[in-house]
Amino acid sequence: MKIKNVIVLVAASLGASAVLAQAKPEDQIKYRQAAMTVTARSVGVLNAMAKGDVPFNKDVAQRHAATIASLSDLPLAAGAYGPGTDKGAPTKADPKVWSEADKFKAAFDKFTLAARALPAASADQGTLKTALADLGKTCKGCHDDYRMK
Ligand code: HEC
Repeated sequence: MKIKNVIVLVAASLGASAVLAQAKPEDQIKYRQAAMTVTARSVGVLNAMAKGDVPFNKDVAQRHAATIASLSDLPLAAGAYGPGTDKGAPTKADPKVWSEADKFKAAFDKFTLAARALPAASADQGTLKTALADLGKTCKGCHDDYRMK
């Protein structure tokens, strides 16, 4: 890719996050919840394949794995947990998301790392199962601390 194109792309993505950071809290909340909803659906499909409830299909598995990997860090990177987004729409984000911002980011980073391992792992049912177990721990770990019941 030419340097000029890279610069345009970087500028465009910075623009996108700046725009989202300026979005109304209500829209940011919807965005982060939507990302989680799509992630959870794809995790469900992969879990069913890993358990053998539905036949393992490498192409379908890799597509869902790629979805999870690419969505994983977006809410945080795009500023959807920005200041003032603790209210404005129904949200289950715990106030600790903001009071322990560093720890929350660390939990997100763990999740992103596990999510990015999924595409390679989903080539095979056995490795998929292990990778999903690792991923699941990061979901639960964060929800226990940062999502209200
Ligand atoms: C680093 C923290 C963190 C991780 C990791 C995480 N979540 Fe969440 N999740 C949240 C928070 C915070 C909310 C509440 C968001 C809100 O209501 O504003 C949430 C909400 C949700 C929701 C409800 C969405 C809605 O429409 O209200 C689902 C479903 C969900 N998460 C699934 C998952 C799954 C599946 C994983 C792992 C693959 C995962 N989450 C990983 C923090 C996390």
